[in-house]
Amino acid sequence: MLKLINVLAPASATLMATLSVAVAQNAPPSPEKQAEKAVEIRQGLFNVQGFAFGPVGAMLKGAAPVDAALVQKEAARVQMTSSMITEVFKLDTRKFQTRTKAKDKIWTDQQDFAQKANDLHEAAVVLEAAARKGDKSGILDAAGKVGNACKACHDEYREK
Ligand code: HEC
Repeated sequence: MLKLINVLAPASATLMATLSVAVAQNAPPSPEKQAEKAVEIRQGLFNVQGFAFGPVGAMLKGAAPVDAALVQKEAARVQMTSSMITEVFKLDTRKFQTRTKAKDKIWTDQQDFAQKANDLHEAAVVLEAAARKGDKSGILDAAGKVGNACKACHDEYREK
């Protein structure tokens, strides 16, 4: 009997540890954790957006040849990511200590912030149409307007 307990004890300790981890995971995250997560998600979204616009930015600088098919693909990605901007800023993280460049006025000027996200979306729709047409100067013009839409929001709502 004693021997049996000895054998079982380590196993059941492991089981208990596993169960308590499972229970901890089911508990709702603290407000601090939720804020940290929200910052991670929105920065992740912008990193993806930057990744998508990068090749187009290179074309704008003349560092890469204009590739209409590539622009079309990236413009669709910028549309998709820009359509998520207001959603990832729903959680107001102002009162938490997080590593963020988001300015407080995102949550006091929400309509204007949403307008700037929408301006980017529309510029990316125009860019995709220009890429489908394939005219080089039309593509560069529309790509420049997408870049301006990024900058317009950063100037107002992102710390340097
Ligand atoms: C509606 C506002 C808005 C628009 C439009 C916008 N951004 Fe941003 N962007 C932000 C804010 C705010 C941050 C800071 C987020 C943070 O640190 O929490 C940011 C951060 C970033 C970052 C840094 C991410 C990080 O990890 O710190 C990149 C890269 C970026 N944006 C790229 C772009 C590109 C490229 C475009 C255009 C295609 C764009 N953004 C359009 C508001 C915007």
